[in-house]
Amino acid sequence: MSREPAPASEGAGAERLPGPQHVAIIMDGNGRWANARGLPRAVGHERGVEALRRTVEAAPELGIRYLTVFSFSTENWRRPAAEVSALFGLLKAYVQRDLSRLKREGVRIRVMGKREGLPADIAELVDKAERETEANSDFYLNIAFNYGGREEILRAARKACDAIQHGELAVENLDEKAFAGFLDTDGIPDPDLLIRTSGEYRLSNFLLWQAAYAELVFTDVLWPDFDKSTLEQSIAEFRSRERRFGAVSPEAN
Ligand code: FPP
Repeated sequence: MSREPAPASEGAGAERLPGPQHVAIIMDGNGRWANARGLPRAVGHERGVEALRRTVEAAPELGIRYLTVFSFSTENWRRPAAEVSALFGLLKAYVQRDLSRLKREGVRIRVMGKREGLPADIAELVDKAERETEANSDFYLNIAFNYGGREEILRAARKACDAIQHGELAVENLDEKAFAGFLDTDGIPDPDLLIRTSGEYRLSNFLLWQAAYAELVFTDVLWPDFDKSTLEQSIAEFRSRERRFGAVSPEAN
């Protein structure tokens, strides 16, 4: 993929893009999927991991180069302990089972979110996945785990203050580009398309900075049922839209 992302906030002008190159997904509806079948919620999450595998496989086939998924939010700690523990177990199992294949396939893994508070074994596994895939650049899989958009922005602000205090950054040089470098998505272009499944219409604290100009697509499909065709439909909706980045449509001139 050679297309550079349009600068998010600099009035890049209207364009219809062949993309998206970066898709972000709020994988919602695992619990409802399970409830509808009289199954425990944890089974919905297990099927959610299968949907994630399908999506990671389908995304590069559809020209996507960056995929960011919301797996566990800073607010999800409010769920019953057994469900929290099931979600941690699933992340662990996913990385343990898929890491060598993803590494072979040229996938670079990044885990976004707060590392403090993660159990030591998960934190180590996450570090290992990032380290072992850091030379890859064919496809980027960003897993937001223990992630909240406001918390990420706050952490970035602290890092920026720290850099200023240590004389590594002048206050007047702290612009949007410099600030973005302190976020968990440093080096990753902003998402072009953000999909939320399960018929909910909220951002739920996901990518608050990065999604400023993302096209939002909401689908009623519950996450465990998500597949390549759902992704294709979302991309078709994205392509039917006109992205103006704050400029006016050429037809208006
Ligand atoms: C939302 O469904 C989903 C989550 C809170 C977790 C998403 C997790 C996965 C897809 C599987 C885990 C994958 C990894 C890599 C750890 P919900 O439980 O809020 O569903 P509901 O709104 O129907 O109750």
